[in-house]
Amino acid sequence: MKKKLLAFSLAMSLTGITGILHAEGNISAGKEKAAVCVSCHGDNGNSLVSTFPKLAQQHSSYLVKQLQAFKSGSRSNPMMSPIAMGLTDDEMADIAAYYSEQKISANELPVLDDDEDEKKTDGNDTIQEIIAQGSDLYRNGDLTREVSACIACHGPYGEGNKPAAFPALKSQHADYLIKTLTDFKSGERSNNPENMMHMIAQKMTAEEIKAVSYRISMMK
Ligand code: HEC
Ligand code: HEC
Repeated sequence: MKKKLLAFSLAMSLTGITGILHAEGNISAGKEKAAVCVSCHGDNGNSLVSTFPKLAQQHSSYLVKQLQAFKSGSRSNPMMSPIAMGLTDDEMADIAAYYSEQKISANELPVLDDDEDEKKTDGNDTIQEIIAQGSDLYRNGDLTREVSACIACHGPYGEGNKPAAFPALKSQHADYLIKTLTDFKSGERSNNPENMMHMIAQKMTAEEIKAVSYRISMMK
């Protein structure tokens, strides 16, 4: 009798554990399934091409949400959409669990291109000054133009918010950040129901998008 009870409670606790693993996705299965992602998103989700987003250390909730959006067509990209269409819910959960446990790599300081460098000699902003402007916008927003402070949702260290599926931003490639913020601004990317990021990005200038992206890319 005692033995039976023990076996029963063991079985119960095991189903409890697999239940959790299922909801969170299976990391080792995810690593195998992520083999097809490596060519663009790099080893461990640290892509080497600056327009391909890093996926390492991103919240699994956010990754799944984006994969579902690419699959349904509410977010569209010629490279990503066909790939997401081939993934099941379980595969998405496993892959997301795997990437969320990887460590994101740090970036080099952005280099201003030639015409920006010329401006610099006219007494215009250096990269450090641009990053400082980005930092101010990230922390304080711009009250007069109603640009919300990014810190409110993306956190003081760019760590995001897992339960709310607010993405982590820290150490993301600046080029991808500029591209995706510009897509939010134009409405090209608008897959979140309340359209929060569109509301915010449409009030930002191209200079502000660049400054805040440079700042975020240096957050660790
Ligand atoms: C041919 C290149 C390519 C391959 C292969 C690829 N991706 Fe992507 N992925 C992209 C590009 C480009 C984007 C950015 C799309 C955009 O600008 O909106 C992206 C974006 C994403 C995003 C959104 C990230 C964010 O921060 O919003 C996720 C999640 C993602 N990919 C997951 C995957 C997974 C999982 C696989 C493998 C099953 C995969 N990708 C394979 C090119 C690729
Ligand atoms: C009210 C909350 C909120 C505020 C404030 C906010 N964001 Fe977001 N942000 C979100 C949400 C939610 C998403 C995910 C949107 C989606 O699912 O497509 C997001 C997505 C993003 C992304 C895309 C990340 C990726 O990996 O593709 C970037 C970049 C971003 N935000 C930058 C900013 C910046 C810069 C600011 C400040 C100027 C800001 N956000 C302010 C909620 C917010």
